[in-house]
Amino acid sequence: MSPLPPSDPAATPARNGAPSFAVITGAQVRQLLDGREREIVDLVESVYRLHGAGDTVNPPSYFLRFPDRPSSRIIALPASLGGEKRVDGLKWVSSFPENIKSGLPRASAVLILNDPVTGYPFACLEASVISAARTAASAALAAHRLSDAREGREKPSRVVFVGTGLIARYIHTFLAATDWPFEEIGVHDLSAESAAGFSDYLRRSGTGARITVHEDAGEAISTADLVVFATVAGTPHVHDPKWFAHDPLVLHVSLRDLAPEILLGSANFVDDVEHCLKADTSPHLAEKLTGGRSFLTGTLDDVLAGRVGVPSDRPVIFSPFGLGVLDLAVGAYVHDAVARAGELHVVDGFFHELSRHG
Ligand SMILES: NC(=O)c1ccc[n+]([C@@H]2O[C@H](COP(=O)([O-])OP(=O)(O)OC[C@H]3O[C@@H](n4cnc5c(N)ncnc54)[C@H](O)[C@@H]3O)[C@@H](O)[C@H]2O)c1
Repeated sequence: MSPLPPSDPAATPARNGAPSFAVITGAQVRQLLDGREREIVDLVESVYRLHGAGDTVNPPSYFLRFPDRPSSRIIALPASLGGEKRVDGLKWVSSFPENIKSGLPRASAVLILNDPVTGYPFACLEASVISAARTAASAALAAHRLSDAREGREKPSRVVFVGTGLIARYIHTFLAATDWPFEEIGVHDLSAESAAGFSDYLRRSGTGARITVHEDAGEAISTADLVVFATVAGTPHVHDPKWFAHDPLVLHVSLRDLAPEILLGSANFVDDVEHCLKADTSPHLAEKLTGGRSFLTGTLDDVLAGRVGVPSDRPVIFSPFGLGVLDLAVGAYVHDAVARAGELHVVDGFFHELSRHG
């Protein structure tokens, strides 16, 4: 495990002297993160360990919904990260699924970083890339650690992506960057256009894996030993436990695809119990159905710390809510690196009333 990046005073002007405020664009974030997938996976691991040790504050997310636009939402994820490099802040992330009809991505986001000493915000970062990267890093970390912990089973080399938008692309990128042994990649999406676009991305990525587009979800799942769900389904659409009879590892990143009965026949891991068992996610539906939480096997941190084992004789499902502290850690990492490179766009005079009595 790598430690969190050390605090670099020169890189964080907002934390010294008069408050300043910088804006970091999506292009800067993307340029900084490209090629650093392994570092981000290590960073995400260190944050999960801090979170498991109680060194974070991660209150419930706030969902803003609209009666006139029921498929859309904006979520606020406030959080505070402890450890060597403290930072507070908020991710404000929109999901407007209708966007994709006009070619715009579904999600857009900003991340505000606050100085933990003064409370002053010191940066606003374009955060859709940060959000996708931390989600993919968390998925790749879980895929490696959960599969490595299953005794007597090879690392899954037949992988299927169910739902093939931006998050699926990032998850593939992070798995590939961490040397995932892809032999076959299955692609399934309700939209033929998405399936074709993702297949095209896979070919451009230079994967040597055989790519197969499946029209049938059951066929797709039955043929894979790693199943990645990254759809925008609001309610379960996968009900048949037989599709999981071969005990695959499942990254249930979109959280609402699986009927609770599938979870009840599986080993279930989450990133945070309270966060995941909310808002009618599949784990929440399983809790409602059974009246308890005994279907949960543990958290990812339990696996990282070796506190719980991962069975080989049942499907294993990882359902990550996606914690705001992950966004903070990746955002602070980007901010400090951009500052060290001397490329921060500081907004002069952003804070005006800096003397209480004028
Ligand atoms: N858990 C986390 O930390 C986390 C973080 C970020 C995003 N997400 C989730 O990831 C999901 C994907 O996000 P995205 O930005 O890639 O979305 P996207 O809109 O770009 O892609 C989603 C794809 O899923 C497909 N789809 C919808 N219903 C389907 C179904 N029943 N079967 C197969 N395909 C289906 C759509 O056609 C679309 O191509 C979202 O649900 C989002 O909330 C989770």
